[in-house]
Amino acid sequence: MSAATAISIPRILVIHGPNLNLLGSREPSVYGRKTLEDINSALATLGQRLGISVDAFQSNDRIQKAIGAYDGVIINAAGYTHTSVAIRDALAMLSIPVIEVHLSNIHKREPFRHTSLMAGAVTGQIVGLGPIGYQLALRAIAELIPLGVAVA
Ligand code: DQA
Repeated sequence: MSAATAISIPRILVIHGPNLNLLGSREPSVYGRKTLEDINSALATLGQRLGISVDAFQSNDRIQKAIGAYDGVIINAAGYTHTSVAIRDALAMLSIPVIEVHLSNIHKREPFRHTSLMAGAVTGQIVGLGPIGYQLALRAIAELIPLGVAVA
């Protein structure tokens, strides 16, 4: 391989839904004490080790930008998980691995949190493992990309 050969590394988009900017002080008994910045910097560090570039945003209108630009998506749609057909529809347009993450175990909480409208449009879910869930999601995507696994 010549020195001039461009090497492209996989790019992963991380989308944090509303209110997750308050992690650290928001219901720490449910979500823990780590801030969103803690989670993002841990993902960036793990991404460096895995050879993956990680871009994280707290936004709901980023999903369409993933088409053609990213090799995988990690999303915690927060409260929109249970209500947003629009976000589900946007995820359904992606043909790359998409991992849905929730810090808390949504199935152990109030009944309205038991349903994820995202579930049918993602490759897989990780719930209830706190901030580690994001790192597991990144590791999962690193395994899935070479296999060509996309949204099932
Ligand atoms: C959450 C669970 C949602 O029900 C809640 O609205 C959130 C956070 C989680 O990460 O556990 O904002 O997505």
